[in-house]
Amino acid sequence: MKILFIGDIFSASGREMLDLYLEEIRTTKNINFIIANGENIAHGNGITNNYYKFLLDHHVNIVTLGNHTFANHDIFNFIDDAKNLIRPLNYPDKVPGRGYITIKYNNLSITVFQVMGRTFMNAILDCPFVKTEELLQKVKSDIYICDFHGEATSEKIAYAHHFDGRINIIVGTHTHVQTNDAHLLPNGTMYMTDLGMTGALDGVIGVENETIIKKFLTGLPVRHTPMEKGRKQLNGLVVEINDTTHKVTNFEIINMVK
Ligand SMILES: [Fe+2]
Ligand SMILES: [Fe+2]
Repeated sequence: MKILFIGDIFSASGREMLDLYLEEIRTTKNINFIIANGENIAHGNGITNNYYKFLLDHHVNIVTLGNHTFANHDIFNFIDDAKNLIRPLNYPDKVPGRGYITIKYNNLSITVFQVMGRTFMNAILDCPFVKTEELLQKVKSDIYICDFHGEATSEKIAYAHHFDGRINIIVGTHTHVQTNDAHLLPNGTMYMTDLGMTGALDGVIGVENETIIKKFLTGLPVRHTPMEKGRKQLNGLVVEINDTTHKVTNFEIINMVK
């Protein structure tokens, strides 16, 4: 089975890249399953029901979110009915939505979940390690896949080593910068600190560069406007997993620029 992961899809630039290349990647690489991060798909901030449907129409099987889960108010209208949408598992218990999904693929049960890091994230969260441990005890599955949404590389790496051999694939999201560290951990977990971003290449992690430069030069508050001009990128990772042994056998970084 081949799984395609797509890094944070940012605004119109990100959607345009999906329109241009996703079908080509899916068919030429014989992808069976797509997991995409959609926390920035609506004008850089959150997701709407229409953009959730846009992703499903593009053959995305599961959409993950992150710290921008509730940034667009439309989420409250559909999150509890959206069967293919997950937000961080370690939000407090009363938060709407779900933190994991278990699906059947051929004869395999696959549990996909997301946790959010607590370092530099400025969010009220339970411990991602403890919540993951609880999930692994509670939900028995052939394959576990984790989207670790976090800022600190050390937190992501520590988490990956802690769960090495128990979670089949751990990929990071949130920083919008693709890391050059995709590898198998000693006990077989496929790990990559960050998938990167699908959106404008010449902005500052998706946002108009002039605005962010001004912010750093002056310290004054600025309005974040998505960068929609210039070059665009599509970032992700393809992971091949053996249907019988459940071991990762191959992987390929995706970094396309237009
Ligand atoms: Fe994020
Ligand atoms: Fe993001």
